[in-house]
Amino acid sequence: MAPTSYSRIQIVLHWTVAALVLFQVFAHDGIVAAWTGRMDGTLVNEPTPNAHVIAGVLIFVLVAWRLVLRLGRGVPALPADEPQALKVVAKGTHALFYVLLLAMPLSGAAAWFLGIEAPALAHSAARFVLIPLLVLHVLAALAQHFWFRTDVLRRMLGLA
Ligand code: HEM
Ligand code: HEM
Repeated sequence: MAPTSYSRIQIVLHWTVAALVLFQVFAHDGIVAAWTGRMDGTLVNEPTPNAHVIAGVLIFVLVAWRLVLRLGRGVPALPADEPQALKVVAKGTHALFYVLLLAMPLSGAAAWFLGIEAPALAHSAARFVLIPLLVLHVLAALAQHFWFRTDVLRRMLGLA
């Protein structure tokens, strides 16, 4: 049986990961400069301490934890009267988030710690999937709340 609400820890993890992902997407100038320097030879090709790396590793750990909770405890069902096509989009979006938020730290780490370019290219390109997905996800959450008037946003805020 699916639970009727998210647990406190699932909610805290959702918003912590959301904040960290926004940081990764908006504040990556430092890592790009460090990486470009390593690749064009103006810096030694060695990993150095970097906030993007720390935040990214943290995302990997917290998302893995979320996945364990999701598989063990489960998540509340989507609104019963939601059209089947929208349910497929919602489930697909959530699944793709999990894939990206585990794969991006792995590709980033492969580039950063091994000093090789191929995974960095994949890592950088992944943002063209991640960012539209984030926009879709936020618009869907707002539409659920203001248009369809469901409790989907309130339950992720711990209010339902
Ligand atoms: C889910 C977690 C992560 C997200 C969302 C993320 C996102 C990003 C974004 C948006 C960029 C800028 C790409 C560009 O402008 O070309 C970037 C660059 C980079 N990130 Fe991450 N990152 C994550 C985790 C990590 C981790 C864990 C590492 C290393 C251990 C890492 C290493 C790098 C490197 C080396 C670059 C520079 C690549 C380049 O400029 O081609 N990232 N990341
Ligand atoms: C920025 C990075 C974000 C990521 C990576 C993300 C990811 C996810 C994932 C994977 C789920 C599925 C539930 C789970 O497995 O825990 C989810 C649910 C949800 N997210 Fe986000 N989210 C982000 C930001 C946001 C923001 C900014 C909002 C609000 C505007 C939001 C609103 C929601 C809501 C309302 C749900 C519940 C959906 C339901 O109960 O069916 N998320 N999110």
